[in-house]
Amino acid sequence: MERIKQLRDLINAHNRAYYVDNNPTISDREFDALMKELEELEKAHPELDDPLSPTHRVGSDLTRGFTQVVHARPMLSLANTYSIGEVDEWVTRCNEALGGEGGFDNVPVVGEMKFDGTSISLTYEHGRLVRAVTRGDGEKGDDVTENIKTIRSIPLVLAPGSWPESFEIRGEIVLPWKEFDRLNAERAFNEEPLFANPRNAAAGTLKMQNPAVVASRGLDAYFYYLLADELPADNHYDNMAAARSWGFKVSSAMTLLHSVKEVDDFINHWDEERRTLPVATDGLVFKVNNLRQQLNLGFTAKSPRWAIAYKFPAERALTPLRFVSFEVGRMGIVTPVANLEPVLLSGTIVKRASLHNEDIIRTLGIHEGDTLYVEKGGEIIPKITGVDVKARHEGAEPIKFVTHCPACGTPLIRIPGEVSWQCPDKYGCPPQLIGRLEHFVGRHMMDIDGVGEENCALLYNAGLVRNIADFYDLRAEQLQGLDRIGPRTADRIIEGIEASKSVPFDRVLYALSIPFVGETVSRKIARQVRSLDALMAMTADQLTSLEEVGPKIADAIVDFFAYAPNLEIIERLRAAGLQFALPDEEPGETSDRLAGKTIVISGVFARHSREEYKQIIEKNGGKNAGSISKKTSFILAGDNMGPAKLEKAKSLGVPILNEEEFLAMLSDEA
Ligand code: IVH
Repeated sequence: MERIKQLRDLINAHNRAYYVDNNPTISDREFDALMKELEELEKAHPELDDPLSPTHRVGSDLTRGFTQVVHARPMLSLANTYSIGEVDEWVTRCNEALGGEGGFDNVPVVGEMKFDGTSISLTYEHGRLVRAVTRGDGEKGDDVTENIKTIRSIPLVLAPGSWPESFEIRGEIVLPWKEFDRLNAERAFNEEPLFANPRNAAAGTLKMQNPAVVASRGLDAYFYYLLADELPADNHYDNMAAARSWGFKVSSAMTLLHSVKEVDDFINHWDEERRTLPVATDGLVFKVNNLRQQLNLGFTAKSPRWAIAYKFPAERALTPLRFVSFEVGRMGIVTPVANLEPVLLSGTIVKRASLHNEDIIRTLGIHEGDTLYVEKGGEIIPKITGVDVKARHEGAEPIKFVTHCPACGTPLIRIPGEVSWQCPDKYGCPPQLIGRLEHFVGRHMMDIDGVGEENCALLYNAGLVRNIADFYDLRAEQLQGLDRIGPRTADRIIEGIEASKSVPFDRVLYALSIPFVGETVSRKIARQVRSLDALMAMTADQLTSLEEVGPKIADAIVDFFAYAPNLEIIERLRAAGLQFALPDEEPGETSDRLAGKTIVISGVFARHSREEYKQIIEKNGGKNAGSISKKTSFILAGDNMGPAKLEKAKSLGVPILNEEEFLAMLSDEA
C-alpha cells in the first residue's frame, strides 16, 4: 500500500525534525493524526508490517534477557587527563609522531563534547537499523535493539542518501537533564532510590527488560564515531557531517581546531558553556581529524593514540556552615547533616550535605561557623570535602556529636566496631517508628499505593497508624479530612492496603524492618525456610546454617521475634491476611525437565547465586559440568562470561542461555 509507505516516510521526516533538528515542522496534533492513520492502516494490513515502522517505537512486548553480541571492532576507551597542559602535550606528541614538519596546521584536531551517558554501537545495513549493542566489556555487549528503537532521535530507516551499504555508528545514550529531574522527582514520590546522575539513569534504563518503560523515559542519543569499510570522507569531521545529513544527532559543538591556542580556547569556552547544554557532559574529547594520520598513530591496548579525553574538574564552592543537625533514621542511626548557607553548585542550590558520621566530622576537623568546601562531581549528591581553616572564627569550638537522641532524648550507644551512634529505643522513638512505616509501604516492600513518606508522618502524628499492623485497620472515613487527603486519595490508600495482602512472603519479610535483613537477604531466607512460622521457630544456630545468614543477622532475627510487641503485630498481620509463606509450586522445585542435559554455568548472575543455580539444575534432573565440551547441552551465562569460554561455545555451536531464559524454561508449562 502506497499510503503506508508514504506515512512512514512522512512520520520519519517529522520525527527527525523534532528530535534531531529541534525544529518541529508540524503540530503535535497533526503528528498524532498521521500516526493514528498509519496505525489503523497497519492493523488492517498486517502483511505489510515492518518491525522498523515508526509505530513500533513504543515498544510493546516484553523481551527476556539480552543476547550477547561480539563487536565487529572492539569498543575501546579513551586516555583521560584533567590538565590542559597534558592535552597540549598530546597535541605536540601527535605532531612529532607524524613527522613534525609543518607544525600543527598539518595535524588538525576535532574538539567535541564528552557526553556523560552510556555508549552504544548501532549497525545499519541498506539504510536500516539492524542491531544496537552496548559496550559491555568492550569485546562483546548486550543486544538492546528493542530498547534503542524507542529512542526517537535515532533513525530506524535512513532517508535516501549516500550512506555505505553497511556501517557502524557509535555514540552515547544520554538522559537529558529535564528528563532526569522528572524521573528522580517521580522516584522520590514513590520512595524509590534516586539515580545519582544521568549516566547511571541512562545505563539502567537501557538495560530494562520492558521496552515500553524505556520508551517512557525520554532517552536521547548523540553520535561521534563512524566505522565502515568505505567511509564517505577521509576525515572524521566530514564523516560526522555526513552522518548528520543521514539523520543522526551529531553535536553542533564539534569544531575543527588548528593550533594549540585554538584547543585551549575550546576548553576554556566549554568549561563554562557546557552548563547551557540540555545533557550532562563530563569533559571534552579531542581527535586527530585525518583518518590516514589516525591510522599512523594507531592504538595502545586500551585506547586510540589519536584521541584524548579532557575531564572537567569537579565543581567546588565555599560556603559558611549554619549548623549541624542530627537526624534519626529507621534503624535509629543518627546522621549528622551540615546545614549550609545556600550556594549554587553545578546548576542546583545546595543547602544541606550529609556528614555521614562522627569520624568524618573529626577527620575534616569541622568547627562551629566554619566555611566549608562543597563539591559535586558527576554525582548529584553534594559532598563536604574540606574546611577553609583561615576563615575560622576565633574561639570556635569543634562540632560535638550529640550524646542523646535528638528525637526522644534516650542516651545514644555506639555499636562496637561500627562508626555510627544509634538510639537504642527501637520501639519508642518516633522517627524510628515513622521510618519503619515508610519502609513498610515502600515500592520494594508492600508497595502501598498512595502512602508516601509525608503520609506516613501524617498518619503517625494523627495517631491513626503507630505500627505497621495499624494500616490494616484503617477505614477511608478516618483518612478523609487529614491534610491533603481527599476522598479519592483516601480510597486509593485503602485499595493499596488491600492489594498489599497479595505481596509475596519474601517482600513481607523485608517489609518487617528486621535489622540487617535487606532485600536480598529476605529473598534468600524466604526461599530456604519457606514460611514465617518456620523462621520464627529457628534458633540462632539453626539460622546461621542458612545461606547469607551470619551470626549478626541470626541474632537480630532472634531478638526481633523475642520481643512481645512484635509478636502481637505479627499476629495482627496474619489475621489481616498477609502472605506468610511462599507458595509450594515455585520454579526450582524438583522435576525432570533437565534430564539428560549437561549444563555449564559461567559468569555472574542477578537472580540466584551460582551455587543456587547448581542446585536448581540438579533438582531438575540435569548435570552441572565445569568445562565446555561437545557434550554440553547449553551454557547458563551471566554477566562477564569469559571471552575464552564464549569463543569455545561458539566454535562448538553450544547454545547460550541467560538466566531469564533458563528460569523461563523451567517454569514453562511442559
Ligand atoms: S570516542 C575509540 N567521543 O567516553 C574512541 N567517546 O572514555 C571511542 N564518550 O566509551 C570513543 N563522548 O562512551 C568518543 N565525543 C565522544 C564521546 C565519547 C562520550 C564516551 C564513550 C567512550 C568513553 C571513553
